[in-house]
Amino acid sequence: METQTTKEKELPNHYTASDNRYDDSADLYRRCGRSGVLLPKVSLGFWHNFGGVDSYDRARAIARCAFDNGITHFDLANNYGPPYGSAEQTLGKLMDDDFRPYRDELFIATKAGYDMWPGPYGNWGSRKYIFASLEQSLKRMRLNYVDLFYSHRYDPNTPLEETLQALVDIVRQGKALYIGISRWPLEALRVAHDYLKAHDVPMLIYQGRINLLDREPINEGILDYCQRQGIGFISFSPLAQGLLTDRYLHGVPDDSRMARNHFLKKERLTPELLNYLQRLNATATERGESLAEMALSWVLHQQGITSVLVGASSSEQLQKNLRSVHAQPFDENIEAIV
Ligand SMILES: NC(=O)c1ccc[n+]([C@@H]2O[C@H](COP(=O)([O-])OP(=O)(O)OC[C@H]3O[C@@H](n4cnc5c(N)ncnc54)[C@H](OP(=O)(O)O)[C@@H]3O)[C@@H](O)[C@H]2O)c1
Repeated sequence: METQTTKEKELPNHYTASDNRYDDSADLYRRCGRSGVLLPKVSLGFWHNFGGVDSYDRARAIARCAFDNGITHFDLANNYGPPYGSAEQTLGKLMDDDFRPYRDELFIATKAGYDMWPGPYGNWGSRKYIFASLEQSLKRMRLNYVDLFYSHRYDPNTPLEETLQALVDIVRQGKALYIGISRWPLEALRVAHDYLKAHDVPMLIYQGRINLLDREPINEGILDYCQRQGIGFISFSPLAQGLLTDRYLHGVPDDSRMARNHFLKKERLTPELLNYLQRLNATATERGESLAEMALSWVLHQQGITSVLVGASSSEQLQKNLRSVHAQPFDENIEAIV
C-alpha cells in the first residue's frame, strides 16, 4: 500500500492510480447490508475541504490519496461547498482531470433534502425538488449517473410516498443505481424500507451519525433495524468533526474547523468535554493507537456498521484514519470509560 504523502506543490498533473490500491482488500471492504455492494470501511466525505473556497490542489491530493488506498466511495450532497454545489463541481473537475478512467471503480453518492435554491421547489422532499436537484448534481459532477442517491432528510410535510416514488423512478430512469436515506426517524425508515422493497428498489444504506459522543441511531433502534432488515449503515462525522482526534487536546489550532466557528462551535469544547477527550486519549495511548484511530475503530466494531464516512483536511489525516481498519477489538474496559 502506498504510504507516501503527497504535498500540494509536488502534485504531478498526470495521475495514474497506484497499482497497489487493492492490496488491502481482504481487510478494507465490507458488504453493505444484504446487497451485492462492497464498500470500504473508511469512506471519504466531501462536506468540507472540497468547496469553491478551498484549494483544488489539496482536494485533489486527498481524493488521489483515498483512491490510491482503496477508498472507492466518495460521499457528496447538492449543497456541499461553500458555495452550494461547489463540492460537486470539484468532483466533476476531478473526474475530468484524474478519475474518468476509473469511473467503474468508484462508488459516488449524492443527496438532496436541504435548501439548495430559492423558492418553494428548492428544498425538502417533493418530487419536483428531487428530480431537479439530481439533474443539477449530475451536470456539476459531469456524470451520467450516480451509484447512490439519498434523501438527505425526512420531510414531515410531504407524503412519504411522494418522496419514495421519486426515488424509485430515479432508479428506473438509470440516474441512480441504489437508494439510501439519511437522518430519517425510525418509523419513517420502516415505511421507506417497506415501500422501496415493494417497488423492487431495496434500500441499500442508511446514513446517520454514530460516534463516541453521539449514539442516537443506536439508542433509537435504527442501527438494529437496519441490521435486521439487511440495510447497510454508514456513519457520518465519526470523529465528531475532529473533536475525537488530537486536534483540540491543547487548544484550538488556527487551521482547524473549530477555528472557523461555524459548523463546529467553540462553545462545544467545554472543560467537561475536554476532560472526557483527554481520558479517551489516555485509553487510546494504552491501546497503542491515536484517539482518531480508536474512535473510528469503536464505530467500526458496532454490529451492523458498514463504513465510517470521514472528512479530512489533508491526505496525512486520511492515511492515519485508514489505520483503524486494522484496529484491535474492544474489551469491556473501553465501555467503562466511554
Ligand atoms: N447525512 C448528513 O446529514 C451528513 C452530515 C454531516 C456529514 N456528512 C458526511 O460525512 C462526512 C464526514 O463528516 P465530517 O467531516 O464531520 O467527519 P469527521 O471525520 O467526524 O471530521 C472530519 C474532520 O476531523 C479532522 N480530522 C480528521 N482526521 C483527523 C486526524 N487523523 N487527526 C486530526 N484531525 C482529523 C479534520 O478537521 P480539520 O479540518 O480541523 O483538520 C476533518 O476535517 C462529510 O464529508 C459528509 O460526506 C453527512
